Amino acid sequence: MHTWDEIEQHINACTHCPLSQTRHLPVMGRGSHNADIMLIAEAPGSQEDLEGLPFVGRSGKILDELLTDCSLTRVEIYITNILKCHPPGNRDPRDEEKEACFPYLKYETFLLKPKIIVCLGRVAAQRIISPDFKITRQHGTWTHRKDCALTAVYHPSAILRDPSKLELTKADFHEIIRKRDELLHNSAIL
Ligand code: URA
Repeated sequence: MHTWDEIEQHINACTHCPLSQTRHLPVMGRGSHNADIMLIAEAPGSQEDLEGLPFVGRSGKILDELLTDCSLTRVEIYITNILKCHPPGNRDPRDEEKEACFPYLKYETFLLKPKIIVCLGRVAAQRIISPDFKITRQHGTWTHRKDCALTAVYHPSAILRDPSKLELTKADFHEIIRKRDELLHNSAIL
């Protein structure tokens, strides 16, 4: 898998876990292949499963509100999920499903080489940043790995359940923009 098209072809044909039997459409990441910022969530929801695109349902509306608030658009970032197939009933992804799907995320990350990874929610943060990541206490904090800064924010569906998390998460996104600008400034040669 050396190109974006090859990754997508593999995902579309994937039967590595039982979710391939229940999905309607697999959901590959979408956005700019030159993005500095990569958002990683846990798994497609039911609307995403029907359309084959990430964050097109109710959570997607919240995500768009967060992006608009800090002047980001979907075309300048890259959004993907750990699982490319919808878990029935929106249950949490199982460990074996996450591991079966993880190579696709690795290829996406390898090709994109993001400067910033933002985990959306606990499931993504615990798989990508640290297994004991506590989203309530640690959202908005930074970890550095190789040339990438990693952080996590509340998942948009957590904001749907508890709208009081919206302002807090907007503030986290503003901090992500500040971090991006700082990293870009520091990498300028002249
Ligand atoms: N929730 C997710 O975690 N991912 C999506 O793509 C949509 C909803």
